Amino acid sequence: MSNQFDVIVIGAGPGGYIAAIRAAQLGKNVACIDAWSNAAGGAAPGGTCTNVGCIPSKALLQSSEHFEHAGHAFADHGISVKGLAIDAAKMVARKDAVVKQNNDGILYLFKKNKVTFFHGTASFVKAVAPGATSGAQGGYEIAVAGKAPATLVGAQIIVATGSNPRALPGAAFDEQQILSNTGALALTEVPKKLGLIGSGVIGLEMGSVWRRLGAEVTVLEGLPTFLGAVDEQIAKEAKKAFDKQGLKIELGVKVGEVKVAKKGVTVAYTNAKGEAQTLAVDKLIVSIGRVPNIDGLNAQAVGLQLDERGAIVVDAECKTNLPGVWAVGDVVRGPMLAHKAEEEGVAVAERIAGQHGHVDFNLIPWVIYTSPEIAWVGRTEQQLKADGVAYKAGSFPFLANGRARALGDTTGLVKILADAKTDEVLGAHIVGPMASELIAECVMAMAFKASAEDIARICHAHPSLSESTKEAALAVDKRTLNF
Ligand code: FAD
Ligand code: NAI
Repeated sequence: MSNQFDVIVIGAGPGGYIAAIRAAQLGKNVACIDAWSNAAGGAAPGGTCTNVGCIPSKALLQSSEHFEHAGHAFADHGISVKGLAIDAAKMVARKDAVVKQNNDGILYLFKKNKVTFFHGTASFVKAVAPGATSGAQGGYEIAVAGKAPATLVGAQIIVATGSNPRALPGAAFDEQQILSNTGALALTEVPKKLGLIGSGVIGLEMGSVWRRLGAEVTVLEGLPTFLGAVDEQIAKEAKKAFDKQGLKIELGVKVGEVKVAKKGVTVAYTNAKGEAQTLAVDKLIVSIGRVPNIDGLNAQAVGLQLDERGAIVVDAECKTNLPGVWAVGDVVRGPMLAHKAEEEGVAVAERIAGQHGHVDFNLIPWVIYTSPEIAWVGRTEQQLKADGVAYKAGSFPFLANGRARALGDTTGLVKILADAKTDEVLGAHIVGPMASELIAECVMAMAFKASAEDIARICHAHPSLSESTKEAALAVDKRTLNF
């Protein structure tokens, strides 16, 4: 096997593995290197997303939702459950099996697309001039450290090395009592008292999982506003639902010293009124954001430029300061989302192949997989106001949707924001059942520059939750039919 590749992708998370597959589809000779190992020491491609992120969190959210439904919602349907119990270890084992299916799926896709996979840590060695080794196109020499060390040369390099959880100063993750997402997804017993720092996406999703299973959950959030990036009306509705569920969220706190004892953790903090408080919990999840990861990459060997946050500096096309070196996903600017990483990976592979890959950063949807789910795309009402855009808003509550009533889940609403003059959809915001699925229609509408009237004129199946999107679009013109 030649060690020269057209494209070497470093990292097989959603940014990297998708870039590798797309480049191979376009006829490139591609290698992908990933360091992640499973408990048995085998390759576990898929990155944070597959191993300790999107997939395992959704598996646990599903299990815990089943448990909550069995305990609270089934009775309404005339279904009685006796002796309901949770086997958290089994739930986590199922989650691990789901992760493994996804790891194996990626290895299969590499084979299918003829991507050569290396399990190990990749580091830059040096730039290689064309013809420096016989038949070489030149590019960059990359060393792979691991069970099967190798030295490769790639004409083009795509760095997709992801991100790591940010720790609280003075409270390093031990994954026993102070947990990052990794530990939070691996608890095999339900803690009696669980604390979370940060009521962002992980705080809400993980807090929901363990609350549903019986933990007493307290979330301490530094900012005075709940979900500040979310449309205010939607955030308010979501907060109401979380309060009702008993997810205790304290806003505007200042976290102080975190002390770990043999059993339990105490967090000293000042509440929004400025009063000194202490939170004593069995486990503490710290979910205060993530930082770009370049561990082991030896970026300095080739002079790869980083910004002050440690992210690799790229332009709008994901080009770094080095010719032939690209970077995508969590390790660069922009939202840390799997689908954003994937879109960048595809676009870069296409650019390398001489095509015109494109990512519309204004149309990246966000989803928080709590119950109710929260999903949005485009601008919020507060952003439109700040931008001085004249807009019309239309909303429709799930309470008035037949399918939601049949499901027994009528929390929330769909809201559509459209340009006052042209009626073009500028934002869509959903809190409620299956918001994660419903948002796709809105993204597509916005990608096609649809007006609210366009959505309103489309025939939506009845009864379906998606009729709420149609009704919200009708509401923009103040003519809902069912509310
Ligand atoms: P990663 O997925 O982090 O992959 C990077 C890979 O590179 C890793 O496998 C790593 O081992 C490897 N690597 C790093 N350095 C090297 C090296 N030097 N050599 C070889 N390999 C290396 N996003 C969503 O869109 N939806 C969700 O529902 C969602 N849920 C999440 C839940 C949690 C708990 C967390 C933590 C994150 C979640 N995310 C979600 C975010 C999502 O996981 C990330 O945005 C996504 O994984 C980023 O993809 P990436 O390819 O940039 O990096
Ligand atoms: P986040 O950025 O979503 O939320 C962090 C929260 O912590 C913020 O509300 C912030 O104000 C607060 N915070 C920061 N420092 C604090 C401090 N010292 N004390 C108290 N509060 C503090 O980050 P999170 O939840 O860690 O998730 C990281 C990223 O992972 C997300 O931003 C997202 O990109 C991705 N993710 C995506 C998911 C999805 O798409 N469903 C699910 C989970 C994670």
